[in-house]
Amino acid sequence: MASTQTDSMRADALAQIEGASTLESLDAVRVAFLGKQGTISALLKTLGKMSPEERQEAGPAFNGLRAEVTEAIAARKAVLEAEALNAKLAGETIDLSLPAPEAPIGSVHPVSQVMDELAEIFADMGFAVATGPEIEDDWHNFTALNMPESHPARAMHDTFYFPDADDEGRSMLLRTHTSPVQIRTMLKDGAPLRIIAPGRVYRSDSDATHTPMFHQIEGLVIGKGIHLGHLKWTLETFLKAFFERDDIVLRLRPSYFPFTEPSVEVDVGYSVEKGRRVVGGSGDDEGHAWMEVLGSGMVNARVIEFGGLDPNEWQGFAFGTGVDRLAMLKYGMDDLRAFFDGDLRWMKHYGFAALDVPTLSGGVGVSA
Ligand code: DAH
Repeated sequence: MASTQTDSMRADALAQIEGASTLESLDAVRVAFLGKQGTISALLKTLGKMSPEERQEAGPAFNGLRAEVTEAIAARKAVLEAEALNAKLAGETIDLSLPAPEAPIGSVHPVSQVMDELAEIFADMGFAVATGPEIEDDWHNFTALNMPESHPARAMHDTFYFPDADDEGRSMLLRTHTSPVQIRTMLKDGAPLRIIAPGRVYRSDSDATHTPMFHQIEGLVIGKGIHLGHLKWTLETFLKAFFERDDIVLRLRPSYFPFTEPSVEVDVGYSVEKGRRVVGGSGDDEGHAWMEVLGSGMVNARVIEFGGLDPNEWQGFAFGTGVDRLAMLKYGMDDLRAFFDGDLRWMKHYGFAALDVPTLSGGVGVSA
């Protein structure tokens, strides 16, 4: 009797185990046969009520059944688990041979790049970076730079004025040059001084070589016994480092700026190679010419006074130049307007990788 019972139960259990297609349904089969209320468990409980003879025969049969079913479940479970893993792996297949989608990477604008280069070069010569507001008053922008209201030089700057004056009755405007930073720095920090002031400036002007907004860098040195020789050495050292050439030749030409006396315009020699201006050599050399790159001079005594200093005690030199023009000369762009069009193709061509910028050679210590 026991054997037919175990045989049919075995057949039933093994069929159900084989038919379980998921781990969940297999577990349900396990519970049905081997769980606390399971049929095989119930069968085993009947052993206690049997006579010793009956038990001797039924015991091994029942326990054998339990062992066999337990083993069959474990085997089926291993099969189902392997299937589940394979299905998961198949669903998550990654094709490592596919090219990765390109991550968009920004680039550094040539103006930012050149401003960084300038700051590095002048930092090596002991210059700090100073700043001033782009919305300036006409006292700092003109008057304190020795350009009184009637001064004809004010007409050289076709300026964007604001409709309202400030609290002190000064006309407000978009600064036309970085020179007002000279006044602000002298008033704030006193002397001695060695600063550069890079930044945006504005003029009512627009064609292939002029944009209403552009960039300048100003330089100011105030000290004792400062003379034109210091100016010349500083500019020469700066231009050699910036253009990364030792054969830079300067020509200082007498000129006029209200804020300097004497004033000099600085030219560099250049030649044209493959349609591009290449700085280097004397402008008097064969195949060379001169190009103006800087305005400069000894700071006018009146400007030193407006800066709150005694011109009998302090002297200095100043210079100013266009950052965009320096960038065009060094990196070979030909249309200034493209600098500010925001065309990503232009940026991709002329921009600099943020973490891979060209470093300056020629003795200027640039940390990586
Ligand atoms: N501020 C002048 C300009 O915008 C440039 C300049 C010339 C600045 C001579 C100076 C200087 O500091 O000494 O045209």
